[in-house]
Amino acid sequence: MVRASLDAAADRTAVPIAVAHDALVLLVGPSGSGKSTFAAGYFPPEAVLSSDAFRSRLAGDPADQSATDEAFSALHAAAEVRLGQGLLTVVDATNLRFEARDPLMAMAWRHGRPAAAIIFMLPLQQCLDRNDARPGRRIPARAVRAQYALLRRVVAEVVNEGFSAVYQLRSVAAIESASVRIDAP
Ligand code: CTP
Ligand code: MG
Repeated sequence: MVRASLDAAADRTAVPIAVAHDALVLLVGPSGSGKSTFAAGYFPPEAVLSSDAFRSRLAGDPADQSATDEAFSALHAAAEVRLGQGLLTVVDATNLRFEARDPLMAMAWRHGRPAAAIIFMLPLQQCLDRNDARPGRRIPARAVRAQYALLRRVVAEVVNEGFSAVYQLRSVAAIESASVRIDAP
């Protein structure tokens, strides 16, 4: 398994985040850690399945938590089809709980696809500040703190879950200087 921890001094050429063209990629991180921004910058839009986008589609509001079950059912259905067809599938959700990752990992396994995790480990204060500064949808600070508590344990957990690669992005500089390579068939 590839394990890479990218820090402030990350060299753009040092460790590209390499994902197979047919992989499942889980973005993992608390609200405000920059998952959606990263997804928009590095992955083709059609590959990105965002829980907020599914909430918006189904309930008209990305923050409507009452639409969570339906949003994840639709997201899982889309992931199932994409992975079945061997298409890159990037799941943009917090993915901090085993229960969130497990059905997606099982899907990748069923379809014989590799899985990578990209973990967004920014300092708590940065996530809180970004959430405060956010136009529109904001998550309560206590929810961000609770997510952050899960983040502390997540690295130790994901290494035993069958991922072929686990990347940790540990600073804004690491995120900004990261490079992503999608390996062709
Ligand atoms: N942001 C920023 N600079 C970055 C990345 C993000 O200022 N390099 C800002 C975004 O513009 C946004 C906020 O930080 O207002 C949160 O970023 P986002 O990518 O939306 O974070 P997510 O991890 O996707 O948060 P959520 O789980 O709530 O969707
Ligand atoms: Mg997001």
